[in-house]
Amino acid sequence: MPFSQPKLLFDRTTISTTVRDLAKRISQDYPGGNLVLICILKGAFVFLSDLIRCLDIPVEIDFVRLASYGSGQISSRSVKITKDIEIPIQGKDVLIVEDIVDTGWTLEYLMERLSGHHPKSLRICSLLNKEARREVSIQIDYVGFAVEDRFLVGYGLDVDEKYRSLPDICYLEEDPAP
Ligand code: IMP
Ligand code: MG
Repeated sequence: MPFSQPKLLFDRTTISTTVRDLAKRISQDYPGGNLVLICILKGAFVFLSDLIRCLDIPVEIDFVRLASYGSGQISSRSVKITKDIEIPIQGKDVLIVEDIVDTGWTLEYLMERLSGHHPKSLRICSLLNKEARREVSIQIDYVGFAVEDRFLVGYGLDVDEKYRSLPDICYLEEDPAP
């Protein structure tokens, strides 16, 4: 689908303020530290890297990579894991770090899978929340921005692997037919 050039939604200064606020809340909520952050690749890696440098508690970091069948912007109910966690999380406080929650199927799958490891607690932090598109109910404990149903890129988010390195969060519009 042809898209317009990215248009600015949240600039880097706004993002940085929001990330710092989230980090402050998380640091307050886990005063003892020993938190395991699990980042969902690829999109959330930029958010994770900024977030951890604003935390003032010790954390461990791990990564998962999830793929949903079907391509493009349409999420599918069928999610599979292509890279699993490597740190044991049994009995630990765990926080999933995601870039954007859309239909909710990805997080529904990951929450269930990680619950099976019997963490002490399991919560979700997502920079962006596209509530209007939700198909399964997901409790997001820390949200950076509530956003409308628009396709977003930049700050880790991509379309067909493009635009991840943009420092701002932008939206794409479908080009009108020529
Ligand atoms: P869900 O399973 O539908 O909640 O899908 C979540 C995943 O879809 C996110 O982790 C993103 O990788 C991707 N996604 C959803 N919306 C967008 C968007 O607006 N821009 C880029 N990726 C998106
Ligand atoms: Mg993602």
